[in-house]
Amino acid sequence: MMAERRALLLIGSPRGIGHSTSDRLGGRVLDVLKEHGFLTEKLHVHAAMASPQELESALAVIGAADMVILSLPLYVDSFPAPVIAFLEQIAERRIGAGRARLFVIIQCGFPEKEQNATALAIAERFAAEAGWSWLGGVGLGEAEWQHKDVARALAPVAEAIANGTAIPQSVLRKAMPAWLYRFGGNIMWRLAARKHHATRSLRARPYAE
Ligand SMILES: Cc1cc2nc3c(=O)[nH]c(=O)nc-3n(C[C@H](O)[C@H](O)[C@H](O)COP(=O)(O)O)c2cc1C
Repeated sequence: MMAERRALLLIGSPRGIGHSTSDRLGGRVLDVLKEHGFLTEKLHVHAAMASPQELESALAVIGAADMVILSLPLYVDSFPAPVIAFLEQIAERRIGAGRARLFVIIQCGFPEKEQNATALAIAERFAAEAGWSWLGGVGLGEAEWQHKDVARALAPVAEAIANGTAIPQSVLRKAMPAWLYRFGGNIMWRLAARKHHATRSLRARPYAE
């Protein structure tokens, strides 16, 4: 009998399980791995960082995983801070070294997937320092608005991960035109300003004086 393979979805958004784009997209990949016979589990990084006990049990789960899917939002061209702290713990303590394989899904608010390039490089560097195998990653733009389409497009990626074949790059779709993004973005900012009674301050430059 083949040994059971364990896949773990690490969700690196403070919105957590059930509420984040990171969970919706990573969950889709996890579903496919489950269909391929993997034992699957989800873990919310921010919850794991909430206490030393939570951290220890999370690290134990990671130590037993063969495949780790890290799904997270881009924060200021990098990772949310608790994710950085969590990965530092893993690398320092050699959790999963020589065993775990890592695939990363990183998604951002801006339309261009290139926004994620630095963060993908950080993830690859983490894999090298932790002694994990780097399977690669996908960087996605505008995933929050279009998460259903993106999740569907991730299915062939998940198949490749499950089968150990080359990861297709086809999910990297075209971004919406820049003018349309600015147009929509400006409407959103004006609505938010109205809600907070700040319409008159939209052009304020408090640090410029
Ligand atoms: C504090 C913060 C920083 C962010 N930084 C960036 C950024 O540098 N570039 C970008 O394109 N989007 C940025 N975003 C947008 C998120 O990456 C985007 O909304 C993402 O889809 C959220 O995913 P989630 O639902 O899994 O948390 C930022 C959002 C927050 C809250």
